[in-house]
Amino acid sequence: MSAVAEQTQVLADRINALEESSTLAMTKMARELAAQGHKVISLSVGEPDFKTPAFICEAAKKAIDDGFHGYSPVAGYPDLRKAIADKLKRDNNIDWKPENIVVSTGAKHSLANVIQVLVNPGDEVLIFAPYWVSYSEMVKLAEGKSVIVEGAFDNGFKVTAAQLEAAITPRTKVVMYASPNNPTGAVYSEAELREIGAVLEKHEGVYVLADEIYEYINFTEEGHFSMGSIPALKDRVITVNGVAKGFAMTGWRIGFIGAAKWIADGVEKLQGQVTSGTNSIAQKAAVAAFNGPLDATIEMTKAYARRRDLVVGLLKEIPGFKVNVPDGAFYAFPDVSYYFGKSDGTNLIKDSDDFANWLLNNSYVSTVAGSGFGAPNCIRISTAAADESLAEAVQRIKDAVATLK
Ligand SMILES: Cc1ncc(COP(=O)(O)O)c(C=O)c1O
Repeated sequence: MSAVAEQTQVLADRINALEESSTLAMTKMARELAAQGHKVISLSVGEPDFKTPAFICEAAKKAIDDGFHGYSPVAGYPDLRKAIADKLKRDNNIDWKPENIVVSTGAKHSLANVIQVLVNPGDEVLIFAPYWVSYSEMVKLAEGKSVIVEGAFDNGFKVTAAQLEAAITPRTKVVMYASPNNPTGAVYSEAELREIGAVLEKHEGVYVLADEIYEYINFTEEGHFSMGSIPALKDRVITVNGVAKGFAMTGWRIGFIGAAKWIADGVEKLQGQVTSGTNSIAQKAAVAAFNGPLDATIEMTKAYARRRDLVVGLLKEIPGFKVNVPDGAFYAFPDVSYYFGKSDGTNLIKDSDDFANWLLNNSYVSTVAGSGFGAPNCIRISTAAADESLAEAVQRIKDAVATLK
């Protein structure tokens, strides 16, 4: 046995059972190819290509000058929890007090915390698919059982209330979804969420983890609707959000939950033993973000909408691609299964993993296979890049697939 294999055996079973994040793995490979001198267009990472708005950066600089250098309260500074409570009231019609808010190190951390706090071994967590790669792994870490409920391509990749009803069992503890969705860009309308909510109202022991991290990147006229605003469900919905996507602040690592006090207290207790309060400077920046104007956010969203139109239009011209029209977020998620079983003479494309790897190595465009998102016929293409790069990337993809027979 190799030294590495032996060392791996020493790792705890829970770590050996985890999948590596496929988005981060593709991004790493793309970086390696770029370092070798290839002209890689990296569309695998879920990250705005904009800079954080200046007024938010100024607040962080001031926080440094004002001496916010010490440990912060575990659940977040009071002014940030208040700003978040105000934001939830203003944008989401959710009436939580600061005591219902817990700030964490990114929405990813918030989601992982809630799962640790609510899920016992063997509890079922219903995940609306396609889903963000980390959901199922977070459930695995809590020894829960992921139950995947698949949104059909023909229904805009959205799960229906009837599907949810059929999937709930006495072991269901949590239902988890993102709207706007990563990877599909699907946005659940108010009517759809109310129908889903009506099913959940009948199942009192079921909690809802509503991931709203892409809230502001929404191209629909209706806009965003939060399940947590439904009074009958308010105490059972944990709303998760943060600053990463809407304010172009991925590296600042601020996420939060708004939840019933006993759930917020559970998260605070866990966080108090694991990470403590998150970065003090970033918290002050987040106060500025949540209390400040949304002009920059709105401008960024306009750019994402324009790029969505560009990429979707170009992808539709590729023979065999089935392309949905995303209503939010910054991804395209074409079904590329037409090419499974085809070959360039040397490489046989069996599935979406082969497809994404082949594309990276042959046309130097990095995408992510749909398999990690629970959608093995698709690939995810980030549209958070300059228009010219996006146009060139899709052209490269078009040229590449033309060689597959
Ligand atoms: C659906 C979804 N939820 C949560 C997150 C995590 O956000 P954060 O950067 O705040 O941890 C992401 C980031 O890619 C995401 O796509």
